Amino acid sequence: MLGPPLRPPMEAVETYKRVLDISNSHVVLLGVTPELAGLGAAMTAVDESSDMIAGIWPGDTDMRKAIHGDWLDLPLPDAGMEAAIGDGCLSALASSIARQSLFAAIAKTLRPDGRAGLRLFAGPEIPYKPADVQALALSGAVSTFHELKWRVAMTAAGNAPDHAIPVKTILDRFDELFPDRQELSAQTGWALPVIGTIDVYRNSNAVYSFAPVSALISEAKAFFGDVGTVSTGSYGFAEQCPLLTLRSPRRRTA
Ligand SMILES: C[S@@+](CC[C@H](N)C(=O)[O-])C[C@H]1O[C@@H](n2cnc3c(N)ncnc32)[C@H](O)[C@@H]1O
Repeated sequence: MLGPPLRPPMEAVETYKRVLDISNSHVVLLGVTPELAGLGAAMTAVDESSDMIAGIWPGDTDMRKAIHGDWLDLPLPDAGMEAAIGDGCLSALASSIARQSLFAAIAKTLRPDGRAGLRLFAGPEIPYKPADVQALALSGAVSTFHELKWRVAMTAAGNAPDHAIPVKTILDRFDELFPDRQELSAQTGWALPVIGTIDVYRNSNAVYSFAPVSALISEAKAFFGDVGTVSTGSYGFAEQCPLLTLRSPRRRTA
């Protein structure tokens, strides 16, 4: 029941391919995003959750395998990988320190000519106002319910350096802004079961972060000589979901 922008649409998948030129490369995938499983000549996907590997990974083949591991301490050889990709993985980390640890881990595992592309769920540079998000949704101008979830999350993640929000709090803020789900459904055309997908947040202990692009670029620059962003297409909310590109990994001596 999940869709864009949470899942990467075809045009975003094409962006990874085009920008990173990975068709002949051995790629590490951070997570088990099924839409990205076919990229590269060979792939090692790394995820800390056995349930996610069992649940959404399309299966190991001669060319790809999923392994259990922590992105911040990648179970891969140093300077061995040609490319790294990930979809929304920076938002799965709860702090600036954790994001920097991920950049360090990617830089460590890439060859000197290696490159990485991470699709972002980037918060706005100036936080959204709750009343504006409410009005936008009720006017029918939000592309999908999943975009609305991220707008609510980004509104609440605010300006602190970590830009973090417990997943449970996203649900609380949503319920405050949209107490009448029937009305939201009537105004937007979103079916109630789709709106109800947000209720799984009640049992989550996860904390997400939605740092703006400028903060992510400055965090990444300590670990890569060449950092940029590229649009991933024209789907709804694509403007907050660019591909962060990382090249020229900096060698660090511990
Ligand atoms: C890649 S993220 C974002 C969702 C993404 N758009 C997708 O396709 O599912 C979600 C995944 O990150 C994994 N994850 C989060 N933090 C991790 C970490 N430190 N190490 C390894 N896997 C992690 C979770 O287990 C989950 O499977």
